[in-house]
Amino acid sequence: MNIWGRHYRTIWPTAERSVQVIDQTRLPFEFVTLELRSLEQVAQAIRTMVVRGAPLIGAAAAYGIALAMQTDASDRALDEALRALQTTRPTAQNLSWALARMRAVVSRAAADARADTAFREAGLICDEDVEQCRCIGIHALPLVRQLAESVARPVNILTHCNAGWLACVDWGTALAPIYMAHDAGIAVHVWVDETRPRNQGAALTAFELAAHAVPHTVIADNLGGLLMQRGQVDLVLVGSDRTTASGEVCNKVGTYLKALAAHDNGVPFYAALPASTIDWSLEHGADIPIEERPASELTHVTGRGPSGAVENVRVVAEGSPVLNLAFDVTPARLVTGLITERGVCAASAAGLQSLYPQRRAAS
Ligand code: MRU
Repeated sequence: MNIWGRHYRTIWPTAERSVQVIDQTRLPFEFVTLELRSLEQVAQAIRTMVVRGAPLIGAAAAYGIALAMQTDASDRALDEALRALQTTRPTAQNLSWALARMRAVVSRAAADARADTAFREAGLICDEDVEQCRCIGIHALPLVRQLAESVARPVNILTHCNAGWLACVDWGTALAPIYMAHDAGIAVHVWVDETRPRNQGAALTAFELAAHAVPHTVIADNLGGLLMQRGQVDLVLVGSDRTTASGEVCNKVGTYLKALAAHDNGVPFYAALPASTIDWSLEHGADIPIEERPASELTHVTGRGPSGAVENVRVVAEGSPVLNLAFDVTPARLVTGLITERGVCAASAAGLQSLYPQRRAAS
């Protein structure tokens, strides 16, 4: 993705064998990169959402293993690094997927080759994510094109949270087809859910779309239903943090309510995700661990004050208890289709198996 004329990925290794990331907690007010030099710094960056979004969490964790192996390449250090990273964010399947892959590859290497092996594998994970997101965009583009042909105005697409390039290594999942449609001259307009409590929509998706000059409007999380009733949403496109083998879609909290509204109003609802997001071991969305995040994310909001300084202010009265569950699960019956790097399928075990015949749901 280009930011002010320069191409960026969200994560990249440096010549000094550290890792550079974009600090997403500073966006949209400041575009700042941050150097991570140790396992602990990577784990902290994931936990505090300096890096976030399911595919990027997986990619960052892979580099966390590489940094750990640079310090100590023993089996014990590998196990400890895997454990430390696994607990950073419990919901995104890409984290477990990347760690399992790193464990398999790194544990086979001799101790003196483990750091090199791990850096190489982390780089492959990043390259593959870029390619998978590009393919997701290509597979979803006809959906947008068809809608464009049936409406005599820009296609209105509603998205929730941030499933763009900032959530991945490049391109994004749900936003990849939007960028491709825009680049192909198809008129699109994006309704961007603000996505309380952390405002990934308002802070990140709007930033991305603006940087790519894609027309968009930020809306309150609760406006989507009315817009759908008024015929102002042609398509809902979201990402996923974990999709079960039966096609249930876990994504940022609030996604389920958008799916219900879309279903009630006959608006197609698609989730875009790479294979690394599919949890083949789970059939029921209710079994997905839902991350509970600090209450302060709800009681406070961050923004730029009149002085120009970025401030964090309280919006909930002192003493009121709050509950900050970060994800919800959309049942497969509400999902029109899943868009993966292999194509579009029904949100069902049969649909997923048509694209991934070698995989079988664990029953
Ligand atoms: O808590 P976050 O910001 O990591 O959650 C991100 C999302 O929910 C995204 O929609 C999801 O990771 C899809 S990834 C392209």
